[in-house]
Amino acid sequence: MQNKEVGIGILGLGNVGRGVLSTLKNNKGFIEQELSPSKVKVVGLADLDEGRKPGSSFDYQFFTRDAQEVITHPDIQIVVEAIGGEYPAYNLIKQAFEAGKHVVTPNKEVVAKHGYELIRIAHQHNVQFLFETSVASAIPILGTMVNMITSAPLDEISGILNGTTNYVLELMLEQDMPQAEAVKKAQEMGYAEADPEKDINGWDALYKIFILATLGFRGKLDLNQIEPTGISKITLADLKLAKEMGYSIKLVATARKVANNKKLNVGVRPVLVPDNHLLSHIYGAHNGIFLSGNGYGELFFSGAGAGGLAGASMIISDIIRIIREPAKFDFNFLLRDAKKWEIERAEQARKHYFIRIGIEDKQENSENIRRILSEQGLPVERAAELRQKDKENILNIGLIADLKKESEIKEIIRKIKEIAHTHIRVIEYLEVYQNKE
Ligand SMILES: NC(=O)c1ccc[n+]([C@@H]2O[C@H](COP(=O)([O-])OP(=O)(O)OC[C@H]3O[C@@H](n4cnc5c(N)ncnc54)[C@H](OP(=O)(O)O)[C@@H]3O)[C@@H](O)[C@H]2O)c1
Repeated sequence: MQNKEVGIGILGLGNVGRGVLSTLKNNKGFIEQELSPSKVKVVGLADLDEGRKPGSSFDYQFFTRDAQEVITHPDIQIVVEAIGGEYPAYNLIKQAFEAGKHVVTPNKEVVAKHGYELIRIAHQHNVQFLFETSVASAIPILGTMVNMITSAPLDEISGILNGTTNYVLELMLEQDMPQAEAVKKAQEMGYAEADPEKDINGWDALYKIFILATLGFRGKLDLNQIEPTGISKITLADLKLAKEMGYSIKLVATARKVANNKKLNVGVRPVLVPDNHLLSHIYGAHNGIFLSGNGYGELFFSGAGAGGLAGASMIISDIIRIIREPAKFDFNFLLRDAKKWEIERAEQARKHYFIRIGIEDKQENSENIRRILSEQGLPVERAAELRQKDKENILNIGLIADLKKESEIKEIIRKIKEIAHTHIRVIEYLEVYQNKE
């Protein structure tokens, strides 16, 4: 595609689609330099909502409500799918390949659910499928993993990949509000979507760690074997007790090699992150990702994980890559006999736990709890107490304990429930995140 004008079509003019248009306009001179002697030209735009048709200050040829018109237009060589979700995005991307178009997408759901098939179809049609923005928006993590982590294999990928949950947990603590209220506020501020389910329940982060693990560990995984634990059960009392003991609670996604590198342990769950850990300083819509492996050691990437312009930045970088090197195919390792990773459930191999016991604030209850914990020989490392203002007469006891197995914790919970029966309100535990030194 050297030396010529390349036509771009954009499907979906929401935050990201509009961000692409604005960036192409605002950074025109720089992008022209990067592409010289080629050029990009926005040809067609599609959105269901006519009201999203851009004004005349933007340079484009036509607007339509029908995505097919963009996909099939002869002057368009690269299609940006910025609609989001599984359908119709999947069909539109497939049709674009069949029409001989390259596709760039920020859509993690379609990539996680159909990426292997779409990569194969793109390859069959001799076109490119790039999706740098689908994970951690502005952080060029996929390109780094595929093109630069080539001297030694990765051992572990971990990080904060969902801005909405990060923001909601922060807001709860900062403004002393329950989760439902914080989600509502995050929606009003434009940080959470109208339907925040996929974020809150951890699916968004799961799609992202799935994509990272596939590319980072150079093989296929079965998405159906991994289930996330989201933040819906995290209460203000959990956050306050954790803070008191020197931790933040964050939704962390991890993928690491286990069983002598034969299996992968992949998971998304809320964990306690020590206040002096880099991940505890990832705020709001920012993302932070650790990559570790032999030689390069531990690498840390952080930056904007959401926002129209942040997303657009990497979409345009993908477009420029395709124009510069249309025949370079990044994902050969996923074709033909790709390695199939076996998944180990994320529950095993835990060590530290956070336990919160919510109990009626009575002398005998506290004594009973202390007795059970000491009888069980619970190795408590830290403890804190909190009396809730909103719920009368409730004492929350937070503990961080060092245990070998989840079964030990379950036994303690069972005994506490047996003795203090109806007085016990909530008992929850979370893994404490401990990054390798
Ligand atoms: N926003 C971010 O910060 C960000 C960052 C990284 C990645 N992403 C990903 O980027 C994708 C887009 O996100 P977004 O925030 O830009 O979404 P958005 O604001 O909801 O925009 C999507 C647009 O696509 C339109 N649309 C829906 N179906 C369509 C169809 N069949 N043909 C043409 N247009 C159609 C929608 O119109 P209606 O509103 O009328 O349905 C809407 O205007 C998602 O996969 C998201 O996960 C977003």
